[in-house]
Amino acid sequence: MDKKPVITIIGLGYVGLPLAHAFAKKGYTVHGFDINEGRIKELSGGHDSTNELEDSQLAEVTMNFSTDASVIKECDIVILAIPTPVDENKKPDLTPIRKASETVGKNMKKGAIIVYESTVYPGTTEEICGPILEEHSGLTCGKDFTLGYSPERINPGDKEHTVTKIMKIVAGQDSKTTDILCKVYGDIITAGIHRAANIKTAEMAKAIENAQRDLNIAYVNEVAMLCHKIGIDSSKVLDAAGTKWNFLKFNPGLVGGHCIGVDPYYLVEKAEQLGMDTHVISAGRKVNDGMAQLVVDEVLEAIGNKGKVLVMGLTFKEDVPDTRNSQSYAVIKALQNAGCDVLADDPQSDDDNVPRGTLSDGPYNAIVLLVKHQEYMNLATEDVISATKEEGLIYDIKHILDKEKVISAGRKYLSL
Ligand SMILES: NC(=O)c1ccc[n+]([C@@H]2O[C@H](COP(=O)([O-])OP(=O)(O)OC[C@H]3O[C@@H](n4cnc5c(N)ncnc54)[C@H](O)[C@@H]3O)[C@@H](O)[C@H]2O)c1
Repeated sequence: MDKKPVITIIGLGYVGLPLAHAFAKKGYTVHGFDINEGRIKELSGGHDSTNELEDSQLAEVTMNFSTDASVIKECDIVILAIPTPVDENKKPDLTPIRKASETVGKNMKKGAIIVYESTVYPGTTEEICGPILEEHSGLTCGKDFTLGYSPERINPGDKEHTVTKIMKIVAGQDSKTTDILCKVYGDIITAGIHRAANIKTAEMAKAIENAQRDLNIAYVNEVAMLCHKIGIDSSKVLDAAGTKWNFLKFNPGLVGGHCIGVDPYYLVEKAEQLGMDTHVISAGRKVNDGMAQLVVDEVLEAIGNKGKVLVMGLTFKEDVPDTRNSQSYAVIKALQNAGCDVLADDPQSDDDNVPRGTLSDGPYNAIVLLVKHQEYMNLATEDVISATKEEGLIYDIKHILDKEKVISAGRKYLSL
């Protein structure tokens, strides 16, 4: 490809939009395709509700956002950034990526390179998506078109490690494809390109990054549970252990979202397909998936199984509006099922599918602070105390408040 290839990004969410913007900023002709009309409407109107891009960033480039898949027809490179969730049985749900591949197959031109950025288990790109593209295009993979895989490694809400500043792993089906992709991604990525050995290696590399994070958090979650039993403060234990140069610093907490709490299941699935049991990876998931219930059990015990509770923080992590797979909802549901009157507060999310409330709707039997939003970091401990009934509970899972003040005000204090 001598001249700049025309690029279509399929799926304009947290991953696809910043990528489209980065290419457009470097002078590429970029089409953005999404099946969500509301999303296309807001982006065409110059706003990104995920807050990954400022309105001014959207205004500084020209991109064509559309729900019309025919834009794919003129593209040299098609990049798919489609959700890869799990179903209710924690099994990978490849329906969105299969459907998007069908759409691409029906519209792609001969000679195109089709790149997947979604997190998947090894083999998905070549053994599942490639055949779908062939079936719907009538073209032959490896001859009429080629495949690539380049995992996205952004961290939602992280304004420092943005897409262009993270080293990009790139793999193509053959060396010519890899050369082209390294050059094209190299145009936007300032942190450098890692040329992976092949597509399966790149797929595996991404999945294990997130599984490693899940395991590290599971470890400190288990440590926190043991500290509770012993009657010591886990944060003080982790502070002390963290003074050693090679101790990895992680904090206990709920693991939600669409990546860390999901991607390990993709590895579990792949292992199962190959007749292998995962022990370590599955143990991490078991511990982290049990944390919401642990919090609920401790709240119920502290308040005598009933009462009015304020849950603070609906999003899966701090300072983002993203509530996907957030464990806060598991906490709320379990408290409601136990008969508690639960209100939820979140400065970042306007989700009104749960009853909303604030500190001023107190006094509460328990206040459960789940997310370290900046707004909560700025809270005065006294304001949380005065919204809690005497002898009520403040469950400060992220150690935001002043524990001594809470205890000396006669409230119960718990944290992870
Ligand atoms: N969000 C992150 O920070 C992050 C980081 C690294 C990797 N990932 C991975 O990247 C992938 C995408 O994640 P995301 O967070 O951007 O998801 P997202 O839900 O924010 O965005 C996906 C977009 O794809 C669209 N879509 C769904 N089906 C479609 C189809 N058939 N055709 C066209 N568009 C379709 C949706 O409407 C949505 O706008 C996932 O595999 C995820 O695990 C995400």
